Amino acid sequence: MRIRIFATPAAAARGLAAEVVGAIAANPRLVLGLATGRTPVPFYRQLVARCRAVDLDCSSITTFNLDEFLGIGADDRRSYRVFMERHLFDHVDVSSRRIHFLNGLSRDIEAECRRYERAIRRAGGIDLQILGLGANGHIGFNEPGASLIARTHRVRLRPATRRANAGIFDGRATAVPREALSMGMATILHTRRIVLLATGASKARCVAQAVEGPLTTRVPASLLQLHGNAEIWLDRAAARSLSRLPAAP
Ligand code: F6R
Repeated sequence: MRIRIFATPAAAARGLAAEVVGAIAANPRLVLGLATGRTPVPFYRQLVARCRAVDLDCSSITTFNLDEFLGIGADDRRSYRVFMERHLFDHVDVSSRRIHFLNGLSRDIEAECRRYERAIRRAGGIDLQILGLGANGHIGFNEPGASLIARTHRVRLRPATRRANAGIFDGRATAVPREALSMGMATILHTRRIVLLATGASKARCVAQAVEGPLTTRVPASLLQLHGNAEIWLDRAAARSLSRLPAAP
């Protein structure tokens, strides 16, 4: 995995926004995989600002979000879909029919997961996947465990993950759904390029395990070492447990 270290979270967000704007300019039909969570919020803010500044045409890009809570509908203010609308889609001209989410209210979960995999295939696969990193090593909602599931599937969220998402649910971890739908490890590993963004000291231990530790399902992000074109973009705090530091850009 290639590592880039930025002085601050804001610098990493600016760098990633510039990278994504460049990728869209180079390929207006880019297929972009997107993450939610606290980490990418400054990145989305920068992305919106840059898209506006250069009047970038985003109407032909396609997006796929990594995950969604089970039992939460697209219109629910606590859904990841509404999160993405608030932070990105309300502000850039991505065509609504090219925006893809898992449906947390689907009655047939298996069919919903198959539909998502099919939609990704039909779009030609994901060109650039943005990832965050759970403090327990999860990516998407692929939680640490004795085994991992390859394709889009239903997941049981760990208590720590529910606590981390409490903010969306009025601060109540118990209100966070116990389950979610998530792209699987193979879905993620089959994307053409990955940029994982992790900032803050709370991610440092896990970053070091993912980058320098052995491949293990106990740290799902460690499997990114198998990807030929994966990068991990960090601020200094998130990089502080790495034993070998690349030079800062
Ligand atoms: C959410 C997702 C998760 C988050 C992770 C980190 O779509 O993919 O893997 O990236 O839970 O969340 P934050 O950024 O809130 O620490």
